[in-house]
Amino acid sequence: MEIKITRAETLKQKPDQSSLGFGRYFTDHMFLMDYDPEQGWHDARIVPYGPLTLSPAAAVFHYGAEIFEGMKAYRRPDGQIQLFRPMENFKRLNNSAERITLPEVDPDFVLKALKTLLDIDRDWVPSLPGTSLYIRPFLFGADPFLGLHTLQKAIYCVILSPVGSYYKEGLNPVKIMIETDDVRAVRGGTGYAKCGGNYAASNRAAHRAELKGYSQVLWLDGVERKYIEEVGAMNVMFQIGDTIVTPKLTGSVLPGITRMSCVELLKAHGYKVEERLLSVEELTEAMRQGTLKEAWGTGTAAVVSPIGELAYAGEKYTVAGGKIGKLTQWLYDTLTAIQWGKAEDPYGWTMIV
Ligand code: PLP
Ligand code: COI
Repeated sequence: MEIKITRAETLKQKPDQSSLGFGRYFTDHMFLMDYDPEQGWHDARIVPYGPLTLSPAAAVFHYGAEIFEGMKAYRRPDGQIQLFRPMENFKRLNNSAERITLPEVDPDFVLKALKTLLDIDRDWVPSLPGTSLYIRPFLFGADPFLGLHTLQKAIYCVILSPVGSYYKEGLNPVKIMIETDDVRAVRGGTGYAKCGGNYAASNRAAHRAELKGYSQVLWLDGVERKYIEEVGAMNVMFQIGDTIVTPKLTGSVLPGITRMSCVELLKAHGYKVEERLLSVEELTEAMRQGTLKEAWGTGTAAVVSPIGELAYAGEKYTVAGGKIGKLTQWLYDTLTAIQWGKAEDPYGWTMIV
């Protein structure tokens, strides 16, 4: 499929790289394509970044038919731009599409489309340490029909946003609250899919935690409310004794690409990693006994983010003295060196574009 390109007549002024924050600025262009059963995906185009026009009856507004991805383009020290495991994101996008019954995309084509878009907005990839260009592909149901039905029409869109660190704390440890009332996902539900509805279900608890001074909540499983699952925008890992424990993928946890990469990195460097069920009792006991040495989150936006405090059932537990731990720092340094092209990539994870 050909990609039609319409360039913006005037280019925006780029924001100051030292105060980007996360997801507040958008580049000059975006990618769009449409789907219907007769034509399949069609009308692939790059157009100036701007509002979309949709029927107010479009399925996305009423029944939450939306999935998305999050990935980044990194500026290498030699000035070139690279992606990190992009095909994993497109594979997950298709898994999410299958769950919501939205049409799947051709991973090779959407990668080609992304490369074309990045080439046009290349100057937007920032170069200051810790900055990158966040890539947000999303796909949603566009049928202008209020009946519940199998989705027919869909739109796939990619927008780009130059970003700094996700948390205002930067690489300083964040405070996380273990949620005991609301649940995010259940097995058989949509937890493993990256769909908007999961985040809507998370809003109330996240808001309550924020009011108490916590950055995000740590979810427990939705059935027994016993096992640790993940944090609002990242997977979670704990160093208990000399073992790294991360919740296994039970179907209600998002299979994070950063999580997978960290597990592979840790194993490659001889660390013992267990992907298993971890109960909140086991975790709080480890905090009381002092065997919990470090805790951190992993995610594209959050990168490797140290956790300095965990709150559960009215108790507060300081982790690693409230500072970034040695292993967390090592993981951050090792992963980001590959992502930003500062170190060799022995795993074939990066792709220069
Ligand atoms: N869990 C949730 C709920 C997320 O939103 C994210 C962010 O994408 C992650 C985990 C981490 O996934 P990834 O490492 O693929 O970005
Ligand atoms: C990401 O890390 O890419 C995410 O999607 C997190 C997002 C919810 C802000």
